Amino acid sequence: EMKVTKFPEGFLWGSASAAYQIEGGWREDGKGITNWDQFVRIPGKTYKATTGDVAVDHYHRYKEDIALMAEMGLKTYRFSVSWARIYPEGRGEVNPKGIEFYENIIDECLKYGIEPMVTIYHWDLPQALVDLYGGWESEEIIEDYVNYAKTLFKAYGSKVKYWITFNEQNIFTSLGWLTAQHPPGKFDDQKTFYQVNHHVFMAHAKAVLAYREMGGTGKIGASFAYTPSYALDCKPENVMSKHDYDELKNFWWMDVYAYGRYPKAAMNYLRKKGFAPVVTKDDQKILKAAAAEIDFMGVNYYQSCVCEYNPMDGVTPYGTMNTTGVKGSAQVLGVPGIYKNPANPYLMTTDWDWSIDPVGLRYCCREITSRYDLPIIISENGLGAFDKKTEDNKIHDEYRIDYLREHLKELGKAIEEGCEVLAYCTWSFTDLLSWLNGYQKRYGFVYVDREEEEGATLDRYKKDSFYWYQDVIKQDGENL
Ligand code: BG6
Repeated sequence: EMKVTKFPEGFLWGSASAAYQIEGGWREDGKGITNWDQFVRIPGKTYKATTGDVAVDHYHRYKEDIALMAEMGLKTYRFSVSWARIYPEGRGEVNPKGIEFYENIIDECLKYGIEPMVTIYHWDLPQALVDLYGGWESEEIIEDYVNYAKTLFKAYGSKVKYWITFNEQNIFTSLGWLTAQHPPGKFDDQKTFYQVNHHVFMAHAKAVLAYREMGGTGKIGASFAYTPSYALDCKPENVMSKHDYDELKNFWWMDVYAYGRYPKAAMNYLRKKGFAPVVTKDDQKILKAAAAEIDFMGVNYYQSCVCEYNPMDGVTPYGTMNTTGVKGSAQVLGVPGIYKNPANPYLMTTDWDWSIDPVGLRYCCREITSRYDLPIIISENGLGAFDKKTEDNKIHDEYRIDYLREHLKELGKAIEEGCEVLAYCTWSFTDLLSWLNGYQKRYGFVYVDREEEEGATLDRYKKDSFYWYQDVIKQDGENL
């Protein structure tokens, strides 16, 4: 008898991580220094000055971690490659030890029938390229990125079927050039911000085309941090502010991936402001060609937002983010003359003031399906929380189970409504370093014994959510 489930056959139940946040081994086996290795050493940049020097030591414990994934029954594991392990200087000589490390990870996954999903760039950039030409600020980086991507395609192309060119281009550029919270730590540099984004788009597009030229038959796309928006109410100026927000904050990226062109009204607005990027005719052709080749839209979904018209003298764009876990310490964000993002009175929030909105995940899927008609990979979704390990080494994270279950129910509805969803990856598998929030903001199914200070055992413990997700996978989501 054939089992008919809501989630399609071969659905990839997964979980995700990123190199800098789990590996550690920051100077090991020839790895070069990255922009993050440098940035975290600037006083005041991260919560309690935490670094990824040791992280959760996945570099030495990957076998133990992947065995836990196998025990759980994971179908896919999404991880990122650290560019500086492959090319310590960003370009030039390949480091064989770096190639070997990820080969080992991939083989270990395949040994258990876990599909490796590789993120080529999850924010850690060889510092040598920053020193040489300013990293993403120079168009020189496009060629270096494509060369690095091709090295990965060549090394792992026969084993890896899922490739993500960039993780959250919108976030690392916004925090890098607008709010100064990520490297290179620039504040309100909108002109550079849009030019940097154009370079990233070109790097993405050329890597996608290179993958096809090399005969790649797997699936390739980018992962976008999608924060869908709701208008505060039916007041027309609030509804228009939602429209403006979407063009500037969502479609600006997704339209380029999916259509190979920038949204018109947003581009006109930026031209008037003097912030529009330089885009050549050739660039346009390449973006269009790559758009025709992508196989999915990758979505990292954590929360939705509300849009309200923002008068010229209203809130400024760069309020303070909550990086401490003290509820209510985040400020309202916006762009004067366009929109602001007040809190949603219908939704609860996490300890870091992120709204909890399962329906928002369905909204993302429906919007992508209707606007782009592309398959979807949910490449991240999860709850950051303060977890406590009991005396008898249990972690009762029922709040995480609730969060994931409600999101999965909405994802199931989206699928029933016609969205083609290939995979769902939770953030994250083990606890790991939250870039700005230290180790106390935990996301994993597997608890790692470590604090902001080094010295704890780094031992792994399965949380209650581990057993819950194990059962979800076993029953293909029928028990949600
Ligand atoms: C995404 C990133 O922005 O969200 C992850 O891709 C990140 O790397 C995750 O850790 C959660 O964000 P945060 O700030 O809570 O760690």
